[in-house]
Amino acid sequence: MLYIKRVGIVGAGAMGSQIAEIMALNGYEVFLKDVSKEFVDRGINNVRKDLEGLVRFHETKAEREISRIEEQDGVTLSEEQKKRIHGKLKPTYDGKRASDALSRIHGSESFDPFKEVDLVVEAIVEEVEEKKKLFKELDQIIPKKVVLASNTSTLSITEIASAARGRSDKIIGTHFFNPPVTLPVIEVIPGLETSEDTTADIIDFLSALRNHRYPMMPVRVKEVPGFLVNRILGAMLNEAFALYEEGVASMRDIDQAMKTGAGLPMGPFELSDLIGLDVLYHENGGRVSHATPDSDCQENVLFWKIRAKVGQRFLQLLLTASLKFQRA
Ligand SMILES: NC(=O)c1ccc[n+]([C@@H]2O[C@H](COP(=O)([O-])OP(=O)(O)OC[C@H]3O[C@@H](n4cnc5c(N)ncnc54)[C@H](O)[C@@H]3O)[C@@H](O)[C@H]2O)c1
Repeated sequence: MLYIKRVGIVGAGAMGSQIAEIMALNGYEVFLKDVSKEFVDRGINNVRKDLEGLVRFHETKAEREISRIEEQDGVTLSEEQKKRIHGKLKPTYDGKRASDALSRIHGSESFDPFKEVDLVVEAIVEEVEEKKKLFKELDQIIPKKVVLASNTSTLSITEIASAARGRSDKIIGTHFFNPPVTLPVIEVIPGLETSEDTTADIIDFLSALRNHRYPMMPVRVKEVPGFLVNRILGAMLNEAFALYEEGVASMRDIDQAMKTGAGLPMGPFELSDLIGLDVLYHENGGRVSHATPDSDCQENVLFWKIRAKVGQRFLQLLLTASLKFQRA
């Protein structure tokens, strides 16, 4: 049984900062580390903005419901009825809850506070050598009883654990999905040497967490390439790229068709944007998709990587930059 009070998170990017937010909202003290103060501050600032949005959403819930009823039914609700709606839809998250959570996140540029943590979640760049270097260092600094979890989307947990020989039984994959504050699933991936106790303890710990909307839902997955969700999603994204390359339909139409025909919340190209083209590039072994081995898409991936991370979206980029993407 794990006793967890403090969680160390390495990597304050898109995933690390939101994992920190979830832990803090669930009452844990969080130490968030990145390579520089600038990146740590950016991560904490993203949490602040996210929490502000969450509070706004909750505080306007009753007003939105009143407008919805009045517009839909063409009626004007009385003050008494409005009061009752406000009473029923009290905000689950208010400013105090958000500021308490934020105050539990402590930025750090060093591993000093990590000597006291009860669990570490790694969310750094998706490169195996970088992760191995980090796990080796963590293994030397962190008390041996502490579990080290990796948020890798694609890499082998067994290989990452090989860098921390002192505790390979306590190294495990905990693959949160983007954005973890609204998506509850977490793939829990034991490596070859991960103990049953570690796996069971981590599943227990994660099951008790909640994100903004749902209880988190850990699913145990064997260590296979792509794990579970991305293996299925990857096949769909590859097909979408292949259809586009064959000139079957435009990206916009493929996205629209999959949303309205297959009931997906976002189309395959929108999803590629959200995941990040650099992540897809690594996942597919140096390609954006298996369907695009020769395309300019590969050559432009580093350019796209930078643009995608600063918010210029894939669809806009393709539509406006006239990059030659279709095969002659
Ligand atoms: N983006 C996604 O959709 C997604 C979804 C699930 C899992 N993941 C996985 O989560 C991990 C992080 O992805 P991301 O999208 O948050 O990346 P990101 O690029 O947004 O953030 C990574 C952060 O790690 C920091 N970093 C790099 N090396 C470091 C080191 N040695 N020590 C401390 N900090 C370091 C970087 O400065 C950066 O701030 C990756 O393993 C990725 O595969 C990503």
